[in-house]
Amino acid sequence: RVAYVNGVYQPHGQAVVHIEDRGFQFADGVYEVWSVFDGRLADYEGHLSRLARSLTELRIDIPMSAQSLGIVLRETIRRNRVRNGLVYIQITRGTAPRDHAFPTDVAPSVIVTAKSIDLNKGEALAAKGAAGVTHPDLRWGRCDIKTVGLLPNALAKQAARERGAYEAILFDEMGMVTEGSSTNAWIVDENGKLRTRDTQANILRGITRAAILNLVEAEGIELEERAFSVEEAKRAREIFVTAASSFVMPIVSLDGSRIGDGKPGPVATRLREIYLEQAR
Ligand code: PDD
Repeated sequence: RVAYVNGVYQPHGQAVVHIEDRGFQFADGVYEVWSVFDGRLADYEGHLSRLARSLTELRIDIPMSAQSLGIVLRETIRRNRVRNGLVYIQITRGTAPRDHAFPTDVAPSVIVTAKSIDLNKGEALAAKGAAGVTHPDLRWGRCDIKTVGLLPNALAKQAARERGAYEAILFDEMGMVTEGSSTNAWIVDENGKLRTRDTQANILRGITRAAILNLVEAEGIELEERAFSVEEAKRAREIFVTAASSFVMPIVSLDGSRIGDGKPGPVATRLREIYLEQAR
């Protein structure tokens, strides 16, 4: 495998950044993840513009043109011979002697990696449905910025894994679901209405979420962008989560209670199917 690090393609095993990179010391950096289908980047523009927004919000210089970035992403995919998989980019403020305040005259660090994924595994899980557990949302107040500060997300995901679950569904002090640890969360409520939390809240504006919203409209599915509680999720007909890395993943149990009839529901199944169709 090969990684791109600050202008150079290096063997993945030897690719390094400096010990005083601010990503390492302060989580002072942002990232994006695209899925790759048949060699194509899904939702390319959406992730690219969110990356630019994350950088702008943190006042990190945009290190290269969108065109050059596209070339690097595609070249990393090519050199790793990825047909189906994920490509990851991380941009940090750069390397400077440790000081909380921003350094001046520092060049951002840019790394890109790509890896292949066996799509059949995800398909098998989606056909069966995945387990979810609830977990308090312990994150900061700017979850709309896709920063590499993912410790609360990692703790929540680990708690899920230790309970044999695929995803942790996070909830706020009011018992309302915010999102998943690395996904956006959706339900088909008791009345059959599709719901997902609005993006005025402190959550990530998922690019897959946005793509699904377009499909929902085209399909004529009734939708409400309104927060739902853990209790409502447990009574829901369906729960599913969306992300570049999992597309649309049905959640068929939450904290061990069965959701609907314990099988992937028709809305999640249909949305997964048409999302994958249009992404290819
Ligand atoms: N995670 N919410 C959170 C907290 C996320 O980390 C992600 C993505 C999403 C879904 O966003 P999108 O549809 O744009 O992928 C929602 C990526 C995949 C990750 O951390 O690997």
